[in-house]
Amino acid sequence: MAPSCPPSTLEITEQHKRVAAHFAATLVQDRSSVGLGTGSTVAYLLPALAARGLNLRCVATSPATEHAARELGLVVESLDELGQLDIAIDGADQIDPEGWLIKGGGAAHTREKIVAAAAKRFVVIASAEKVVDKLSAPVPLEIMRFGAQGTLQALAPAQLRDVPASPDGNLIADYLGDVGDPQTLASRLSAVPGLVEHGLFAPTLLSDIVIAGDGGIEHRRITSG
Ligand code: 5RP
Repeated sequence: MAPSCPPSTLEITEQHKRVAAHFAATLVQDRSSVGLGTGSTVAYLLPALAARGLNLRCVATSPATEHAARELGLVVESLDELGQLDIAIDGADQIDPEGWLIKGGGAAHTREKIVAAAAKRFVVIASAEKVVDKLSAPVPLEIMRFGAQGTLQALAPAQLRDVPASPDGNLIADYLGDVGDPQTLASRLSAVPGLVEHGLFAPTLLSDIVIAGDGGIEHRRITSG
């Protein structure tokens, strides 16, 4: 038999995402309402959740997630129909030691933040390379088309991202400066008229962080969430 190649770094990262997502699927209880995030880690969550055969009512944070969830037989409704959610599960681009996140690499951070805030329990799932000592740019931004140039100047240094508009018709951009203290930057960004939402998520939004790495799963409960 030919010797098999060791898995690449990419394959290992994908395996870690899968492990974190499968663990999070076990946190979902029957007859609950579930917020579904967006991204490649959530892509592992959806089949794991569907395979459990629970009676769930879900909300999707993007058209891509909505489509994938429906294909798997999950019931997707609007957030207005469901109101408060029992649990929401989503990925992250960066996670700092205090539980601050940067999200929005998939340009879905506004809907993701609304869904996270609507959930009694918000679980973040990620592979270990998402854990950082200090958050750094880019910080995703969603801004209104109206007056976009002036809004970008007020958010400087920031630039538009070359991606389609959000499902809500807004532009996607990135803040490219120093992050420094996340709360200070979050307040500064939020104060700019024309900004719809930024991708800094405060630890107060979170209930759990599930990180999968070479050493297995780390499941942190966040008491401020
Ligand atoms: C999408 C997000 C994603 O959760 C974040 O970008 C992580 O994505 P992935 O799981 O593909 O690494 O915020 O807007």
